[in-house]
Amino acid sequence: MSSITIIGAGNMGSAIAGLALAAGSQVQVLTREATEVDPRVTAGTVGDEITGDVVVLALPYGALDDVLGAYAGRLDGKVLVDITNPVDFATFDSLVVPAGSSAAAQIQERVPGARVLKAFNTSFAATLATGQVGPLPTTVLVAGDDADAKAALASAVSGVRVVDAGSLKRAHELEALGFLQLTLAAGEKTSWTTGFALAE
Ligand SMILES: NC(=O)c1ccc[n+]([C@@H]2O[C@H](COP(=O)([O-])OP(=O)(O)OC[C@H]3O[C@@H](n4cnc5c(N)ncnc54)[C@H](OP(=O)(O)O)[C@@H]3O)[C@@H](O)[C@H]2O)c1
Repeated sequence: MSSITIIGAGNMGSAIAGLALAAGSQVQVLTREATEVDPRVTAGTVGDEITGDVVVLALPYGALDDVLGAYAGRLDGKVLVDITNPVDFATFDSLVVPAGSSAAAQIQERVPGARVLKAFNTSFAATLATGQVGPLPTTVLVAGDDADAKAALASAVSGVRVVDAGSLKRAHELEALGFLQLTLAAGEKTSWTTGFALAE
């Protein structure tokens, strides 16, 4: 059985927990403060021991520093999933990561012993919860350098189509795609309940 720890219980954390429960995974959810979560998951607070082999950072980009600091030396060997769209919310006109890089690459540099994946950032939370983007299945694009890590994530969730988008370098493109989708929804060119999909 897959085991997954989700840090953060907001829109994305809750939707991803739903996908993991649907797959029959053991789910742990860690929050900043003790809070009520789905009774099927094991609840805890940030700093508690991580029980999942797959760890999803369902957090704002700005919270990563704190949370990775809290788990310094304790994430080696884990599949560490970055879902952020590191948007510069002051301008809503660029990302805050260096040109050509990505939040996921920064995390991999900071936690070299973890197997970092970029995933979920190109899907709005509502489409993860429903499994649908219009008439199409929700696609979760995954970038990372470790094939086993990608397979572990794919088997820990169900209800969405998981597609291998290539190496961790592709996190740069996934973050650009996530940013573009955000600008389209914010500009009311599309809605927060749809977004990009892959047609067969
Ligand atoms: N929403 C989407 O459709 C969507 C789509 C793609 C990617 N994303 C990305 O997914 C991530 C999460 O987005 P979201 O919409 O789920 O946000 P959200 O609903 O605001 O949830 C954020 C979660 O992070 C927790 N958190 C914030 N700062 C923290 C800290 N310093 N330490 C520990 N926990 C902290 C919050 O806890 P509290 O409740 O205690 O504040 C909350 O549980 C973001 O990086 C976003 O860019 C979102």
